[in-house]
Amino acid sequence: KESGYDAWLHYRRDRHVKQMPAWCRVIVVHETDDEVLQTAASELQQGLASMFGQQPKISTVPAHEPFVALGTFQDHPCVAERFSAEEQAEVSAEGYRIRGVEVSELAGLTGQDHADIKGRCVTVAGQTSKGVLYGVFHLLRYLQGGLDGKLKSTAKQSLHAPILDLLSNPANPIRMINHWDNMDGSVERGYAGASIFYNNNAFTTNMERLRDYARLLASVGIQALSINNVNVHQVETELITDRFLPDVAKVAAIFRAYGIQIYLSINYASPIQLGGLTTADPLDPDVAEWWQTKAREIYAAVPDLGGFVVKADSENRPGPFSYGRHHADGANMLADALRPYGGRVIWRCFVYDCKQDWRDRKTDRARAAFDHFKPLDGLFRDNVILQIKNGPMDFQVREPVSPLFGALEATQVLLEFQIAQEYTGQQKHLCYLVPQWKEVLDFDTYAQGKGSTIKRIVSGALHNSSNSNSHRGKAIVHANSGSLQEKPTHHIPKPTNFGIAAVSNIGADTNWTGHLLAQSNLYGYGRLAWDPDLSADEIADEWVRLTFSGQGKDNGDTELIPTIKQMLLDSWNIYESYTAPLGVGWMVSPNHHYGPDVDGYEYSMWGTYHFADCWGIGVDRTTATGTGYAGHYFPPVAGIYESIDSCPDELLLFFHHVPYTHVLHSGQTVIQHIYDTHFEGAERAAHLHATWISLREQLHETIYEQVLTRLEHQAEHAEEWRDRINTYFYRKSGIPDEKNRPIY
Ligand code: GCU
Repeated sequence: KESGYDAWLHYRRDRHVKQMPAWCRVIVVHETDDEVLQTAASELQQGLASMFGQQPKISTVPAHEPFVALGTFQDHPCVAERFSAEEQAEVSAEGYRIRGVEVSELAGLTGQDHADIKGRCVTVAGQTSKGVLYGVFHLLRYLQGGLDGKLKSTAKQSLHAPILDLLSNPANPIRMINHWDNMDGSVERGYAGASIFYNNNAFTTNMERLRDYARLLASVGIQALSINNVNVHQVETELITDRFLPDVAKVAAIFRAYGIQIYLSINYASPIQLGGLTTADPLDPDVAEWWQTKAREIYAAVPDLGGFVVKADSENRPGPFSYGRHHADGANMLADALRPYGGRVIWRCFVYDCKQDWRDRKTDRARAAFDHFKPLDGLFRDNVILQIKNGPMDFQVREPVSPLFGALEATQVLLEFQIAQEYTGQQKHLCYLVPQWKEVLDFDTYAQGKGSTIKRIVSGALHNSSNSNSHRGKAIVHANSGSLQEKPTHHIPKPTNFGIAAVSNIGADTNWTGHLLAQSNLYGYGRLAWDPDLSADEIADEWVRLTFSGQGKDNGDTELIPTIKQMLLDSWNIYESYTAPLGVGWMVSPNHHYGPDVDGYEYSMWGTYHFADCWGIGVDRTTATGTGYAGHYFPPVAGIYESIDSCPDELLLFFHHVPYTHVLHSGQTVIQHIYDTHFEGAERAAHLHATWISLREQLHETIYEQVLTRLEHQAEHAEEWRDRINTYFYRKSGIPDEKNRPIY
């Protein structure tokens, strides 16, 4: 039982609760074919049974006793009657309202008598069954001891006592996870075992596991899932053929019951590889027709497929560039094929020259996405969404945000995060990423003045609010293509095609994420995609409570919860301090990206350099003397990064090449900062390990052991990082450590 498999859905029995509270003995739900509503009812039934040791009945009619009612405002009178028309209108398509009993009675702690039957019932309501399902998971989270702050603060004071009363709408219309799973069972950048979807070039037969995954995702509001790697190899190219479509349909059915839409990554060269055409040119009518026929076949098998995810002209993948076309041509042709079925094209902006010459100091990979896509702003169909990585490089522990956010004014965007810890310790090191994501989401681009934060851009809110601005269409200056005749669209779509996607960190390991504590990143990603205003602290608090409540020997959990939470909150900073100094990045072993190798990417073709020599280090990305990248931002951000005086310390080496003796805002020199952070980082990693050991008595043994071995390794590996990096810079600079600590 204590393997980590149930993750945060481990509904432990609370020993203080002697009896099942009255309101949850009967679940009232309209008779329905709606699978998602059925899922909501059975999830609630299961959760309550496991928490209170008694199975609630499911009934279609409200009995004369307390009950919990589930349903949409439309389909159940006993749901609708509890909310005014105004209250109903405040709920968005996937949002929910929960109204209920007194908070103390809710958890079964008291059993006061109420004359008013309504006061003893709980109602979970939405516009759609998906909303109801999310509401059910929220209610369960609350009962489980998650007691998240948002919920507590909305508990209204009634005549008698606080009544549970809450409204929640997702900020982001699309909340997606991308799998980088291959059909041979491997997972690109997977650190938690093999794929749960495939093995041996076939689909898994373990549908139970997929269903359990769907539960985890739906419980935090994820509703879109791409199920194969963006690098689409030979076999996976056939996912859109008869060979595999029946399997795709089966998988889609499992996730559909949890309100999750499936997407497929496709190979841009499919017309050649599958169709026997000689070209994949997006402007060739045969190519367009091939995709139209293909779309008909695909949607006959999976009528509600979300659409395609496309990595084109990126890291040696085929794309429209081969035919002298630009990316709007490529994306729009596919979008037209999917349009009749409501499908979307999610087109990735991770496009750069991966065959760069390291001697060439002018080409800057950080500029690439902006340079490729900014000129195409406004040219994309309204069922195309551009997916942009959070930073301009590639999920480093520290990067500035991509300047494409905000710069694309007339294009729908998805923000791409990486939950998989490719560059952040590969789920061997502890690295709770929510604080990093929060910094991204809260970042103000000033695209339309103060308050143009990334979270408002990716949710579509900024586009929505500036709907009336009519300065949308712009002259397109891109010159390389013969196909730019088309007028930029002035039409700003309703913000349904906006949101966040993230690369999955799960695999077939029993606890899903390898490192048990890395589950917090999956949980945190979902919660943040739902509500970017939650803090990293609140999310950590929820996750730790849900995962560890009831673990403590006396069920008091007094030290356990705050201690593990603090470990999470410190971990990103710790990881950063013994790895990449001051935003420089890329000091990792080539290919697998694990462990230190300061010059591993220095003389390569990947555009990933730090330019360290005996005088200094860093990349000059200023407009005055460097690559000009800093100029991609709006003022005042551009100016802040441009000037060495105002550039924040943590990004200094991303934007500037400086001598080792340069003095930071912190008052420290660059070289001394490198030494100090690396010594401290390794110490703090050792401290994480020691802290965990101090919790031994309070943790279940198997849980304790699985995390212990990872933290042990992390502490040792942090020393390796410390010594390699310190020694490298000591040898380059010849400047000794002020504190005389061992450097080799
Ligand atoms: C990174 C990663 C690759 C991945 C690529 C992408 O470069 O290392 O494995 O394919 O990102 O996002 O497409």
